[in-house]
Amino acid sequence: MSYIFTVNEVREKQNITVEQLRILLGNASEEELNFLYGQAREVADKVYGKKVFKRGLIEFTNYCKNDCYYCGIRRSNNCVERYRLEKEIILECCKRGYELGYRTFVLQGGEDGYFTDERICDIVSSVREKFPDSAITLSIGEKSKESYQKYFDAGANRYLLRHETANEEHYGRLHPTELSLVNRKQCLWDLKEIGYQVGCGFMVGSSYQTIETLYEDLMFIKALEPHMVGIGPFIPQQDTPFAKEKAGTLEMTLRLLAMIRLIHPHVLLPATTALGTIHKQGRELGILAGANVVMPNLSPVDVRDKYKLYDNKACSGDEAAEGDANLQLRIKNIGYELVCDRGDYC
Ligand code: 5AD
Repeated sequence: MSYIFTVNEVREKQNITVEQLRILLGNASEEELNFLYGQAREVADKVYGKKVFKRGLIEFTNYCKNDCYYCGIRRSNNCVERYRLEKEIILECCKRGYELGYRTFVLQGGEDGYFTDERICDIVSSVREKFPDSAITLSIGEKSKESYQKYFDAGANRYLLRHETANEEHYGRLHPTELSLVNRKQCLWDLKEIGYQVGCGFMVGSSYQTIETLYEDLMFIKALEPHMVGIGPFIPQQDTPFAKEKAGTLEMTLRLLAMIRLIHPHVLLPATTALGTIHKQGRELGILAGANVVMPNLSPVDVRDKYKLYDNKACSGDEAAEGDANLQLRIKNIGYELVCDRGDYC
């Protein structure tokens, strides 16, 4: 089967077989890759036009009770200087973001026991009250359905929880035994049922990832039908068990972004910080391969380098909300417009 024929078929069926995935991740000429990316672009443009949505990311705690082998803020990493942001600071970040045109705030953090449901609801309802026309996205890990319901009732609209890998065995090689894929997937179903716009996702090139595990990731996306999918290259962090593992590549990430767009056309798909970290033009290339969201950092400057999920994480310049004008220009240069609306799933 030829590469181009495969792209066409995947696009037409909005589905993929493991053989087709193998072809699309295998040897391809530049021309073939450009065809894949171009088709993904066309599909995105049909749904969302030439728009790129922006989300302001506020990383409000780097404490985490989990010990994921790949993650820089894992519990056992003693090299991390831990911090938490007070509600007032979080609100200031939102205010600054609002002035810059942000209408989505993503509150992300490790699984930090200090932030009880009561504290989370207090923060969410304060943001909701001050910024009634903005979307509030939470990204704070695995909780009970009751907790998710409370945050939703307090005013949260969206929730990001990457599934990390949809394959049991692979999941077990990335996480300690107290974490389970079954529970993680259940969280995503619960969130969806409550009425959140949900995002799942995975790292590209994580250790032990194979075509087969990636295929399961794509099938999980087809089954869950999430509103958002976050993928970015795995990048080793020097103080984790995976310090010496190989990083994921730009090209694999671009191919997978394109495939996700083709099989799930309406998805909100960020060109992630990790993609911007491994390549100067990662964000633009991501957009040209089907992504339509960027998530610059709105956290206070003095904590940014403490939220180190991986080495050399980009958090200044165009990755930061201060670089908005420049980011806008870069996106304009590739024929897209960075817009200020909430950018809901449609
Ligand atoms: N490289 C890339 N992405 C990472 N994440 C965590 N650690 C790394 C790493 N070393 C991703 C995980 C997590 C998200 C917040 O960041 O997928 O869900």
